[in-house]
Amino acid sequence: MRAEAPEAVGLLEQLVEPGTGTPLRVVPGPPLRLESESGRSYPVEEGVARFVGDGALPAEQAATGDTFSTKWARVDTFGHDAATRDFHHRWYLQRYGWRDEAEFAAFLGDQQRVLDAGCGVGRDVAWYLAHAPGLVAGVDISTAVDAAARNVGPHARLLLAQADLANLPFPPEFFDYVACDQVLHHTFDPRASFEHLVSRVRPGGVLAFYVYKVKGPIREFADDHLRSLATRMSEPEALRLSEALTRFGQALTEQGLTMDVPVAIPELGIAAGRFDVQRWLYWNVFKCFYNADWDWETNVMTNYDWYRPVTAYRYRPGEIREWIAAAGLETLHEDVGDAGLSYRCRKPSH
Ligand SMILES: C[S@@+](CC[C@H](N)C(=O)[O-])C[C@H]1O[C@@H](n2cnc3c(N)ncnc32)[C@H](O)[C@@H]1O
Repeated sequence: MRAEAPEAVGLLEQLVEPGTGTPLRVVPGPPLRLESESGRSYPVEEGVARFVGDGALPAEQAATGDTFSTKWARVDTFGHDAATRDFHHRWYLQRYGWRDEAEFAAFLGDQQRVLDAGCGVGRDVAWYLAHAPGLVAGVDISTAVDAAARNVGPHARLLLAQADLANLPFPPEFFDYVACDQVLHHTFDPRASFEHLVSRVRPGGVLAFYVYKVKGPIREFADDHLRSLATRMSEPEALRLSEALTRFGQALTEQGLTMDVPVAIPELGIAAGRFDVQRWLYWNVFKCFYNADWDWETNVMTNYDWYRPVTAYRYRPGEIREWIAAAGLETLHEDVGDAGLSYRCRKPSH
């Protein structure tokens, strides 16, 4: 659907100005744009409303957005092929406590307004559109939204915006279901972003989110060290580092070595048992991602995504439980995984 189509204008009319929360008027194009009561103008380009121009973002957040614009330009259909889509859908269902896709689809079938906060190139937007009957909005700070628009294609119920999820162009209590998968930890102030997302969920609505978990001390040390380098490197240097780490992960994976750890060393977060050497180094020493089912570029971008963003925070379960309690949410499901913490929470009805 073109942005100028009547349905698209109807969707755009649901947006409000970030910050002031006042209505936006759709000014027909070309160029199509949105205008606030105070006369500020926001472009609608390629059907996507844009709210990130003119110093709208803190510098660190803008830098993280640029990193993801680079990443998603290189793997712009990630999650739309069977291998990566099925992998992620299975992981999503497990982490958020859904028995299977049918149970999740039945839940979505009752959600009139769904937000994918930090939608990347739209893998989950497509999923939500397939099962939810009403509006599905996707917001991302990066130009990934353009890839999402291409990947998901024109759709009468899809509203995409390039915006900061900490300053959304939607009114309070607007959404029935907000999903923020693997994004909050990349925002400038994750707790404030979380609280902002909570404010956009209607009473009785559901928020699902995932944040990175704090790992063992050796891995944290190596991550901090590599991040402090990777966030300051030139783009070619950051790509070279990401490729070297991927090559390392690939070589070890192909060697298929295993190792025995005779006793646990909890002080280092090390468990006893038999491990694949690549996986052991990955979890305990430094991230050297490699998945033989994925193409080379997608593997490289997975390591790049870990080390290059300027804003990337990690959390312990107790910290997130405290956020949830302070926001007055009910936890429906918690998953403490090796890599991250996933929560599905309900906002109490008034
Ligand atoms: C690891 S990707 C996850 C994308 C998607 N949720 C998925 O599961 O594939 C993180 C995404 O968060 C976006 N992002 C980071 N900070 C953001 C912010 N403040 N507001 C909106 N999106 C943000 C990035 O641009 C990137 O596309």
